[in-house]
Amino acid sequence: MEWPFFDLRIASGEVLLRGVTDDDLDPMLAVLPDDLEMDPRTETFAGLAAVTDRRRRFTAEIWKHRGTWSPGSWCLDLAVEVDGQVVGVQALEGDEFPLLRTVDSHSWLAKEVRGRGLATLMRVGVLALAFEHLGAEVAVTSARLDNAPSLAVSRRLGYVDNGLSRTNSPTGMTELQHLRLTRDAWRAGGRTAEVVGAEACLPWFAENAAS
Ligand SMILES: CC(C)(COP(=O)(O)OP(=O)(O)OC[C@H]1O[C@@H](n2cnc3c(N)ncnc32)[C@H](O)[C@@H]1OP(=O)(O)O)[C@@H](O)C(=O)NCCC(=O)NCCS
Repeated sequence: MEWPFFDLRIASGEVLLRGVTDDDLDPMLAVLPDDLEMDPRTETFAGLAAVTDRRRRFTAEIWKHRGTWSPGSWCLDLAVEVDGQVVGVQALEGDEFPLLRTVDSHSWLAKEVRGRGLATLMRVGVLALAFEHLGAEVAVTSARLDNAPSLAVSRRLGYVDNGLSRTNSPTGMTELQHLRLTRDAWRAGGRTAEVVGAEACLPWFAENAAS
């Protein structure tokens, strides 16, 4: 199958990141946390029970990201595996990446495994991919002002505040804190992860794979 992310492996401490497969969907849905905000732009189906529709929207997003991939606009969903169990998703996104060299990221973890540093390891994994293998120069992210764990992960890795914005959310208007990390600041932090299989992914980012 021409989808090189199934063979991508990123080892970051006890966390393994790899391209989400359809076999991952059931274990993910089994631990999908209720505090994960769905994209408010995705349609809800009034005929489905709310919990079923939430699962449908999650699944549809994963498939949409595969089916609409373009080097100019992409979202890479990586399964988070710890001790052989799927416990969350770490996503990396880029728009006009060949020109802007900027990546965004978002993630979630099953509630049972939070608070032990896994989110930091997950972010280190995708930043290593972006900065050391894909040619990214800047990483950005954003989180609600009341999302202390997400903000803590970013600040711990050297991101600096980059302004506030207001946005629509399932609970109405909310303020987002934006953060930014340059490649130099990332490298100064001295973090690493072991990335295998990035070479075959390069054409998906409009880069030539070395022959
Ligand atoms: C965001 C998320 C992935 C973080 O997972 P986690 O397991 O708590 O993350 P970690 O344990 O790696 O790190 C959490 C950090 O937040 C800090 N933290 C946690 N709760 C906190 C609180 N209430 N106040 C301040 N800091 C807090 C921890 O001390 C830790 O910081 P440190 O590494 O500097 O000590 C998880 O909370 C989640 O899935 N949330 C729901 C989805 C979501 O909001 N995703 C982010 C959208 S932008």
